[in-house]
Amino acid sequence: MAKIIDGRAISAQIKEEVKQEAKALAARGIKACLAVVQVGDHPASSVYVRNKHRACAACGIKSLEFHLPESCGQEDLLRQIRDLNAREDVDGILVQLPLPRQIDADAVIEAIDPAKDVDGFLPENLGRLLIGQDGFLPCTPAGILELLKRSHIPLEGKECLVLGRSNIVGKPVALLMLREHATVTIAHSRTANLPELMRRADILIAAIGRADFVKGADLKEGAVVIDVGINRMEDGSLHGDVDYEDAFDRVSAITPVPGGVGPMTIAMLMKNCLRAARARRS
Ligand code: GUN
Repeated sequence: MAKIIDGRAISAQIKEEVKQEAKALAARGIKACLAVVQVGDHPASSVYVRNKHRACAACGIKSLEFHLPESCGQEDLLRQIRDLNAREDVDGILVQLPLPRQIDADAVIEAIDPAKDVDGFLPENLGRLLIGQDGFLPCTPAGILELLKRSHIPLEGKECLVLGRSNIVGKPVALLMLREHATVTIAHSRTANLPELMRRADILIAAIGRADFVKGADLKEGAVVIDVGINRMEDGSLHGDVDYEDAFDRVSAITPVPGGVGPMTIAMLMKNCLRAARARRS
């Protein structure tokens, strides 16, 4: 029987741990604080931002909201970031993506103080991951590692296949698996021998954004599947990048969609906020 890796339960456990730690920090007069910057009213972004504020409230982390109009200029946004960099009471800065077209998102992200980069998107923090130094880890990759660790899935010496090479998920999660001594392959849209790679993988991490792309027959018997995909179907339901029903009987463990990787991202954001507060102020 396949084990279902319950991201909701593990996320709740992490948020409870963060809450206890935030309380201990508050007892020493340090109130961890996250600033969330949203530009415009992208509907999905508004949902994500609201969820981040809710998670902060549940964990005892203060959260501040900065909402700029869709038409705002690059300089307005940079001024906001510089202001938040300078604020002693702000530990973490998160600029919700995507940003409107007139704004250079890379320049905005890179304006964030690396010590407040709780998203782990800055070149400095990604570079630290690359060379094995401590820094902020991007939340989704960190959440995937946490799911695997708390499910006691061994990584050392395992063949790990990452589908997708984005800067936010594919590349950093590959580096994290490497850090855990897995043998890592990154596959992408131009990969020639994908069927062969999938059949060999002990651990498959799918982050390509194509609904039900991976079928049961593609997988190695007993593989562990981590599904990062969140694809909205015509009937309104959410499907991952892996055909869950089809894969279920073939795998030893799998994350459902929804309720797998998704809830972990915010939990790891909370953990990063607390870490920023501790590092900056104690
Ligand atoms: N938009 C979608 N996911 C994310 C995320 O993890 N961080 C930020 N800043 N924006 C996002």
